[in-house]
Amino acid sequence: MPRPSGMFGEGRIALDLFCGSGAVTAALRRRGFRVLAGLDNDPIACRTYRLNHPKVDLIENDIRAIDPATLVNLLPEAFGVDLLVICAPCQPFSSQNHKLGADSRAELVLQAPRFAEVLRPKCIFIENVPGLTSPSNIHIVEELTVRLANAGYSLSKPRRIDAADLGVPQRRLRCVMVACRNERGVQIFEKARLRRRRKTVRDAIGNLPELASGECDPKDPLHRARAHKEIALERLRAVPKDGGSRMALPPHLKLKCHRDDHSYSDVYGRMRWDSVAPTLTTGCDDITRGRFAHPEQDRAITLREAALLQTFPKSYRFSGNRSEVARQIGNAVPVTMVEALVPLLMRILRCSESTPRRQPKDN
Ligand SMILES: C[S@@+](CC[C@H](N)C(=O)[O-])C[C@H]1O[C@@H](n2cnc3c(N)ncnc32)[C@H](O)[C@@H]1O
Repeated sequence: MPRPSGMFGEGRIALDLFCGSGAVTAALRRRGFRVLAGLDNDPIACRTYRLNHPKVDLIENDIRAIDPATLVNLLPEAFGVDLLVICAPCQPFSSQNHKLGADSRAELVLQAPRFAEVLRPKCIFIENVPGLTSPSNIHIVEELTVRLANAGYSLSKPRRIDAADLGVPQRRLRCVMVACRNERGVQIFEKARLRRRRKTVRDAIGNLPELASGECDPKDPLHRARAHKEIALERLRAVPKDGGSRMALPPHLKLKCHRDDHSYSDVYGRMRWDSVAPTLTTGCDDITRGRFAHPEQDRAITLREAALLQTFPKSYRFSGNRSEVARQIGNAVPVTMVEALVPLLMRILRCSESTPRRQPKDN
């Protein structure tokens, strides 16, 4: 049976495990992949996923309770899985998580081999934070390597990338890996040059309607400015436009807890128009949680601006209240980053079709 054609992805079949609000699915679908199913256990993220990808099967459950064989039933006849995407939670490995090592979610990345054994994808793409490879977590990567090898897959070396180098207007350090059934695919991944033209904060949000604190764009409910208290507004007005920080505040506006403390120096800071944004977190619309003030307007960035800096399409719809939407945006994998990786993933897939495969070990 001929493959359905499509841009780049050529109608290849992908599964998106830990799909969250669907950024990876959006990227793959934009690049011509057919995403057969997503899986996540967060009901609010799942609602967002359904809003934007109504035709994709979504399994809303704890991944540990899912038998991968149920996904086999979704496959069209004569087609196997091309790409299995695993974006397990990164909080257990994040430098911002002070309980490093004590988080049971760290084990979730090890779900990859369980699904690979049954689904036999041509390529597995794994995305997380660089902390996954830190000395306290490297045992997880080692365990992953062994379990994938037993399933017949070679795991690449982790590659540390900055989404800003792949056209995302945001500094976002990530760790990406692939697992393939042949060494050649792994080599292609490890050697590939990954670089795209940089985009800036201005490119992403420079043309949005101006808003004062508390105002909302009547045409876009997500472009709503937080209503700041008067003292926060006074501070914002005193922070220099285009990249200024709280260090410029006069003594009477400095927070008591900041007077002698230079940690958390980003809070109350403004983004810079002609640079990339800082890493967006789940508190990305809150000036007390990072450099999340607008470059020149006296307010925090809106959720629409945050979504655009994460490279969600302008038409993307989100379910949930303000903090739930911020959480989904902060947890997302930038759409443009995944789109930029598609040509490389396609090279790996084509290679897997022309080279002998590694066989799983007999138990
Ligand atoms: C890094 S986020 C995924 C981001 C997503 N891939 C995207 O494109 O935006 C990790 C996701 O893992 C989900 N998750 C955490 N524990 C889970 C579990 N036990 N089973 C299924 N999903 C889980 C979270 O709800 C969250 O959406």
